[in-house]
Amino acid sequence: MRIGIDRMAFATTNDYLDLVELAKARNVDPNKYTIGIGQDQQAVVPPTQDIVTLGAAAAQKLLTPALMKNISTLIVATESGIDNSKAAAIYIKRLLGLNDFVRTVEMKEACYSATAGIQFARGIVALNPQETVLVIASDIARYGLDTPGEVTQGAGAVAMLISQNPHILNLEDTTVPYSKDIMDFWRPLYATEALVDGKYSTNVYIDFFKQTFTRYQQLTGRDLADFAAIAFHLPFTKMGKKGLESLLGERKDEVASRLRQQLKASQIYSRKVGNLYTGSLYLSLMSLLQNGNLNVGDRIGLFSYGSGAEGEFYTGILEEGYQNYMSNVEMDLARRHKVSVAKYEQLFNNQLGMKSEDVEFDDRNDPLPFVLKGQKNHQRIYLIKKN
Ligand code: HMG
Repeated sequence: MRIGIDRMAFATTNDYLDLVELAKARNVDPNKYTIGIGQDQQAVVPPTQDIVTLGAAAAQKLLTPALMKNISTLIVATESGIDNSKAAAIYIKRLLGLNDFVRTVEMKEACYSATAGIQFARGIVALNPQETVLVIASDIARYGLDTPGEVTQGAGAVAMLISQNPHILNLEDTTVPYSKDIMDFWRPLYATEALVDGKYSTNVYIDFFKQTFTRYQQLTGRDLADFAAIAFHLPFTKMGKKGLESLLGERKDEVASRLRQQLKASQIYSRKVGNLYTGSLYLSLMSLLQNGNLNVGDRIGLFSYGSGAEGEFYTGILEEGYQNYMSNVEMDLARRHKVSVAKYEQLFNNQLGMKSEDVEFDDRNDPLPFVLKGQKNHQRIYLIKKN
């Protein structure tokens, strides 16, 4: 049975920060951010947005009444959870108007869990081919003001429908997961910002990519020439380059130049949004599919990495008409509004975070369809602004 990604949609916040302006405010050479790290802009999160509102906004773009009827399961992958017990998926299910006979669950393993969600979804569809699974990767990447990780922050959600006879990517059977207990990046329960051993994390990422790709080669007999492109988890766009170059080395042949070109296409959106944690690989895939030089039937590799750490290398074959089943990311990014460094810092400090008191936010300037209106009696209040 052919099972894979049938539809994809992306949502981010309406505000963004120019990283040249951030570099100047931090007394850093802007080239370090734009060339050394490979980021131009990053999403700025107002207090009225969180992983529930962003996840619902992404999913709403791909749903139609007919598609909603077939959804049996909603998986929300996130490491920015808003509750230690209740799944974000239950809030999102209500905001989207999905029926009550839908299984709803939240998954976590740093930036990796959306990939686990997709693999689990394949199993559900294989057992019940008439069912579809909605997987939403939604996160807010937060490191703290004036930290080395600050330039790699970001926010947004990618929603994906997993079904039989998919319209975008038919996922192939061989997939290589790989995990080890490693402290490269983590966030204790009492912290709103991640702790990270940054340089170490980049080395572990590269090691996991090599481990999974080498095993994939052993299992399938395929090599780089069998790929039209490889999409990477992009915590910052330079990381994808480091990953790819770790395999290409000095190669300058046709395969190497093709993969380098396609990598550039996959980095375009992440450059403007920043790290989406769980959603990053899938925004990279959307960027590749919307900007790359691809043909129906092409094989695409996907490298998923989540700190802690877990990686997975898997592949899919591009389907006829794939361009027609994704939301228009370029259009969404063009609509955003630039904020100053001072405004970004103010918004950064005004998040609900761990606050326990009642609060009401002003949502008048937030154009997204779902907003976090505030908190009352320890309960988050979500509003549907428009459908
Ligand atoms: P840093 O110490 O500020 O930067 O931290 P640096 O000094 O290493 O410089 C970065 C690059 O800029 C270097 O290039 C410099 O040479 C270059 P590289 O050697 O890496 O190719 N550079 C310049 N280039 C041009 N002009 C200049 C200039 N100056 C310097 N003037 C670091 C960088 C990434 C470590 C930091 O931002 C960080 O800690 N980020 C967060 C952690 C992270 O993203 N890790 C990635 C792998 S782990 C992962 O992907 C999982 C994750 O998504 C979380 C999850 O799973 O949930 C993070």
